[in-house]
Amino acid sequence: MKPEVTVTSGKLASTLSKMSEERYSIVLIMFSGEGLKSPHCAAVDELTNGLLSRRVEHDGFDPRYKQSKVIDTDLSVQGLDKVILLGLGQRSKLTADGLREVLAEAFTAARDSAHAEHLIFPLIDVDLKSFSVEQFAQVVAEYCVLADYEPNHRKTGPWLDEAEQTHLKSLTLVANRNSLRQAKNGAALGVKLGEATCLARDLVNEPPSTMTAQHLAKAATKVATESDGLVSCKVFGKQDIKKMKMGGVLAVNRGSTKAPAFIELSYDPPSGATVQCLALVGKGVTFDTGGLDIKDYSSMNDMKMDMAGAAAVVAAMSLMSVLKPKISIRALVAATDNQISADAFLQGDVITMMSGKTVEVGHTDAEGRLTLADALHYAQEHCEATMIVDLATLTGAIEEALGVYVTGIFGNNDRFTRQVAKAAARAGEAVHELPMPDIYRAENKGKMADLTNDGGGPGSITAAWFLREFIKDGIEWVHADIAGTAFRTPGTAYGIEPAGGTGVGVRTLAHLIASFG
Ligand code: BES
Ligand code: MN
Ligand code: ZN
Repeated sequence: MKPEVTVTSGKLASTLSKMSEERYSIVLIMFSGEGLKSPHCAAVDELTNGLLSRRVEHDGFDPRYKQSKVIDTDLSVQGLDKVILLGLGQRSKLTADGLREVLAEAFTAARDSAHAEHLIFPLIDVDLKSFSVEQFAQVVAEYCVLADYEPNHRKTGPWLDEAEQTHLKSLTLVANRNSLRQAKNGAALGVKLGEATCLARDLVNEPPSTMTAQHLAKAATKVATESDGLVSCKVFGKQDIKKMKMGGVLAVNRGSTKAPAFIELSYDPPSGATVQCLALVGKGVTFDTGGLDIKDYSSMNDMKMDMAGAAAVVAAMSLMSVLKPKISIRALVAATDNQISADAFLQGDVITMMSGKTVEVGHTDAEGRLTLADALHYAQEHCEATMIVDLATLTGAIEEALGVYVTGIFGNNDRFTRQVAKAAARAGEAVHELPMPDIYRAENKGKMADLTNDGGGPGSITAAWFLREFIKDGIEWVHADIAGTAFRTPGTAYGIEPAGGTGVGVRTLAHLIASFG
């Protein structure tokens, strides 16, 4: 159940009097050093007959950055249950990312500490140059949906005497009368961005024996079916993949008992296909055992996440009816698992890729670049893509370089790479560009074929160079290595990201698409 988000305007007291829910809580975000001066704090204080100021004075709450406090009103005001105070720190020091952190805290505190189900959230003036009212409302709604995400687990009941998780059921944003329209637009977009991210999370969290290539294709088909006719979906089966000579996809699929699928989602603006076409390519390895170069126990943990790039591009296509871009968009996924079997592809095999280039298999665990290279080629040959963004859980090395909270991006065109980085910043997703110096290109030089898939270090850069060998001159391309950021273990869950798939990339893609107008 996703929280229902609505936007109203007017005086807080009248909003409260209109609440139909029996019990609701109110979130007040506050700057350091400004006391309870803000109109919303003052209104709540008045409404509670000074309870707010008495409690703040008595307990000494200082709204430092990310500090929170839950005040129980003991229902002294009809229906008003808890007041959740959240510190933004000093007004002059607040950044857009800082605000996001506070929002994550606000919603987790509301749910887990205040056990609130119905929330009222006055939109205060945060004075951020990078944030209009519309964007503020968007992020608040988005973070509410994301913070309250419930993984698609199959628990049949609570564990022993563990309390059942409460959920946010509704969020009412209170805007100024003159910015109501903007706040409504922003909130509507925020909900959609949150929901699309949750869709990607669900796809990643699905057990790998369920999330087969066919299942992923079905999920993509569903996105098209629910797109108001804006998105169409083509699924190519094994025979088609053979006909298209996708040697990389077929090699990786050889060890599998399950057929591969090549998925193409298409959006053209209502006016028809355009000169500019952005292809979104996602790595869709539904489970990565490593192949015959099999991974060990701990490396294979969570390898169901190896289709997180695919999940992101499919989920991004669910936003077409909201974004309605003026350029053509394609999402492409070569889906297969990477399995072991007596038929599996072998070290030393030479495969001919769809592009005609030959690749010597140096490592069966470097499978992602093989499937991606065919999808990248398809994007250029069959979709006339002029710009490509690929998202892939490609290398373990990216985590060594950037950790689990920053995605590594690579590109062949500074302008386009900056455009993607800017979209990521707007989305609140951390990315960092890594270089692709020529010196590392030769790492992929094959002995018995054009290329080897087992180039040496630095692993993430070599892998990026491998993909780039399949990009034609003049095509703008960005590769995002999300191996570190796509999945949270319980130890790295943070803010709005619980353990499991994060849905990384969906919102960056949405903002990138929006940047084309
Ligand atoms: N799917 C993995 C990369 C990965 C590692 C994703 C950790 C998420 C978390 C990829 O297919 C892989 O196995 N890469 C190898 C490449 C190597 C064999 C050249 C790696 O990174 O070790
Ligand atoms: Mn692998
Ligand atoms: Zn992989």
